Amino acid sequence: MSILITGGDGYLGWPTAVRIAARTDDRVVLVDNFARRDWVETTGSTSAIPVLDMEARLDAARDRLGIQNMSFVQGDLTDDAFVDEILEVHEPETVVHTAAQPSAPYSQINGERANYTQHNNLQSTRNLLWGLSEHDLTDTHFIETTTTGVYGAPEFPIPEGGATMENQGERDDVPFPAMAGSWYHLTKSHDAANMRLAHKQFDIPVSDVRTAITYGIETEETAVDSRLATRFDFDYYFGVVAHRFCAQAVAGYPMTVYGRGEQRKPFIALEDAVEGLARLATDGPDARPDDHVVYNQVTRAISIVEIAETIADVSEEFGLDVEVEHFENPREEDETHKMEIEHDRYDELIDGQSTTFEEGVREILSILLEYEDVVTAHEDRFLPGVLTGDED
Ligand SMILES: NC(=O)c1ccc[n+]([C@@H]2O[C@H](COP(=O)([O-])OP(=O)(O)OC[C@H]3O[C@@H](n4cnc5c(N)ncnc54)[C@H](O)[C@@H]3O)[C@@H](O)[C@H]2O)c1
Repeated sequence: MSILITGGDGYLGWPTAVRIAARTDDRVVLVDNFARRDWVETTGSTSAIPVLDMEARLDAARDRLGIQNMSFVQGDLTDDAFVDEILEVHEPETVVHTAAQPSAPYSQINGERANYTQHNNLQSTRNLLWGLSEHDLTDTHFIETTTTGVYGAPEFPIPEGGATMENQGERDDVPFPAMAGSWYHLTKSHDAANMRLAHKQFDIPVSDVRTAITYGIETEETAVDSRLATRFDFDYYFGVVAHRFCAQAVAGYPMTVYGRGEQRKPFIALEDAVEGLARLATDGPDARPDDHVVYNQVTRAISIVEIAETIADVSEEFGLDVEVEHFENPREEDETHKMEIEHDRYDELIDGQSTTFEEGVREILSILLEYEDVVTAHEDRFLPGVLTGDED
């Protein structure tokens, strides 16, 4: 039996693969084309925490955690012949699909990057879904990290999945992946719709895991040895807001809040995100859905200003003196949107949140301070404008 983890070299994919491999005797096959490493390099930035090459990562997992059942295949999921080969050779019972170009600002640089992002993400997912059908693997549980961004910012509480629509006195439940606000986020709206269709047409069990902004450095397993670390990006394009703010605090740079920053965004700690995916992947055939299930992989919605203030407060514990500055917002967004999002199904999956935002920030700062020199050497990457689209 085997479990396929796509994007196994990525921020979420690597620690998820390690946890799954530690919990099961099944063969865990990681796939990646190392594109994320290239994208970040193109921005002139780097992961603050050194990320070893895959062979060294697998060696460290074997040495320190006794993991013998994990292997890696390099390849591009947009190549259908590659996907066919992987499915034919490994016949996975579960696919955890985390491979994607995940940055909204990167997808917005120019038409070429928008095209690249949409082609990369959609083609990869379609190749996998059609591949499962064509290889007669329609009992395989397909789990994908989509994004809470597929919902956009509606003026009503966001449901965990579909919404009820009323028109001319009639009501029906409709899927709700439709108001994404970037060319990247829309790839996940399309993926959500394609997964729904694949479930309907091919009967593939699907867990559509709408992942919130994920923060954190370590999981229980990766904390054992720095050679097992996952990446930590902090530049404008690939650093999620909480990571960028923490890096700004470490570099003694003011935290840059775009506009008023009162809009609430959904967040989840890396530990909780990894736990949900590991449970979905390892709970065995009896626990797997024979259906299409949406999870909002969120533990809390927090305003951007609250994030900055929490980081500023925790920074003081480390002797850092951090200011919060407001810059003109380069993004089109409602700076006061008060997001409310249901996540009961996800809470139940992970038995409740394990890490608060404040604890997460404390963990990030304590580790990131060891890499202060890397962050300060790249502090000009906190702001946009580095990429013009002419780099290729
Ligand atoms: N990190 C977050 O805050 C967050 C939030 C919401 C959703 N997500 C989603 O979770 C998933 C993982 O995100 P992440 O932060 O770990 O990103 P990441 O970039 O670190 O990981 C994605 C991995 O997929 C690989 N990849 C991309 N395209 C590929 C292809 N065509 N073939 C093979 N490998 C390919 C990349 O090289 C990378 O290692 C993505 O689908 C992302 O959209 C992440």
